[in-house]
Amino acid sequence: MSLWLLIGTVAIGQTVWDGVYTEAQATRGEATYNERCSACHGTELEGGDMTPGLTTGMFTSNWNELTVGDLFERIRITMPLDNPSSLSRQQVADVVAFLLKANKWPAGESELPRETFALKEIKILSLKP
Ligand code: HEC
Repeated sequence: MSLWLLIGTVAIGQTVWDGVYTEAQATRGEATYNERCSACHGTELEGGDMTPGLTTGMFTSNWNELTVGDLFERIRITMPLDNPSSLSRQQVADVVAFLLKANKWPAGESELPRETFALKEIKILSLKP
């Protein structure tokens, strides 16, 4: 169990193991993923010729020790590659929730926020602390 210091709705010291998104949010994100991402990243998030996969060891080790905010910004600013920055903050947060679920990090009671500063407080750890 990690120690949480609550400031407003931002929980300092959370990790992706703490249930930081909801099932409903991941389901919304899956729909957006299928519409906007799967053509390149694959229906099983396995990646393609020149496109990295978004699950399993490669993905989780790439992002290990970074934050959900970093992943959010990477997607918000550069993806979809053929039409960057075309998703709303809500859509990006939902897609990130889907990616967390696909990588077997658990769902919880509250949704991922849309604000980068709050997302930067959630650390990505490939292994359970
Ligand atoms: C037109 C093809 C295409 C589409 C559509 C696309 N991507 Fe990508 N994506 C790429 C390629 C190619 C890379 C690697 C090169 C780069 O980053 O520019 C990449 C890189 C990424 C990365 C970084 C992976 C890593 O581990 O470093 C993430 C995360 C990502 N994409 C998420 C998404 C999401 C989410 C969507 C849908 C909103 C999306 N992409 C849509 C082609 C695409």
